[in-house]
Amino acid sequence: MTEEITARKKTALSGIQPSGNLTIGNYLGALSNFGSFTEEFNCYYCVVDLHSITVRQVPAELRRRTYEVLALYIACGLDPDKCTLFVQSHVHEHAELSWMLSCFTMFGELSRMTQFKDKSAKHADNINAGLFTYPVLMAADILLYQADAVPIGQDQKQHLELARDIAERFNGVFSPTFTVPEPYIPKVGANIMSLAEPTKKMSKSDANENAVVRILDTRDVIIKKFKRAVTDSDTCVRRAEGKDGINNLMTIYSCFTGKSFDEIEREFDGRGYGDFKAAVGEVCADGLAPVQARFSELMADKAYLEEVMKNGAEKASRTASKTVAKVKRKLGFVTL
Ligand code: TRP
Repeated sequence: MTEEITARKKTALSGIQPSGNLTIGNYLGALSNFGSFTEEFNCYYCVVDLHSITVRQVPAELRRRTYEVLALYIACGLDPDKCTLFVQSHVHEHAELSWMLSCFTMFGELSRMTQFKDKSAKHADNINAGLFTYPVLMAADILLYQADAVPIGQDQKQHLELARDIAERFNGVFSPTFTVPEPYIPKVGANIMSLAEPTKKMSKSDANENAVVRILDTRDVIIKKFKRAVTDSDTCVRRAEGKDGINNLMTIYSCFTGKSFDEIEREFDGRGYGDFKAAVGEVCADGLAPVQARFSELMADKAYLEEVMKNGAEKASRTASKTVAKVKRKLGFVTL
């Protein structure tokens, strides 16, 4: 019965890099919706450690953050019994398929990737080949599991488009091999902006710590950061063009409370920005508190996290190895 349901469900896959501390942008745009996904889809959630070494990492930090992202997945409602949670480097097929797909990806296509251009400007001293072929590895992550839907932020749309092109190209040269994936971009919360420069996306690697609210920030820090959030010279809490700071705070408030913008405008009618910012801080801290509590419990139990990783890697490998075997056969590799 369960097997049958699983067979009928579509597959979703997403990945998060274990670099940098995740923000409420990651939470509202992705993590907080993941739980509901597991009902609808057969889900794979991956900690993409292979992707993170495209920029220099401190090994001990990379290791710690790998546990942290896994713990966050679980703390945000992903049940390891209902979906496959795993670490990318534990499933060697990712690297293997990535190589094969790189021979179906054009130099010109990779050169046009805006993230590559941005990252090479930022890390001018380390423009390595991995940074360039990063999207091919991402395509491998997705195509290995024949994913139908890929929950991603707007910034990853171009990479997903490339994954689709690679899949179609391969399918066209050989015969249908890969499912061509669709992006799944959440409407609300997908665009949480920086608190310091609200025309810019909130980024976990922002040098200005006041610009970002992190999932694991303490209550005091969260409240303080919202108090410092950049607004405008108007005094009225309402949505309007040009009021980027307030629009962003209203989005965040709406995400944590479920209230509509009209309701929020009424609630803060005649009250100043100070009151509003304090309220946003409160609802954000309240909303994150249960996640943080569960996260701490999980981080104190490494053995449990390792068991999840191990089971996840086994489950993931079963699907991934089938895809790789199929690809190798089609390419003409000798199978023993
Ligand atoms: N590139 C993605 C990011 O930085 C992370 C990622 C890697 C990913 N592999 C993926 C996301 C597969 C979705 C599916 O956000």
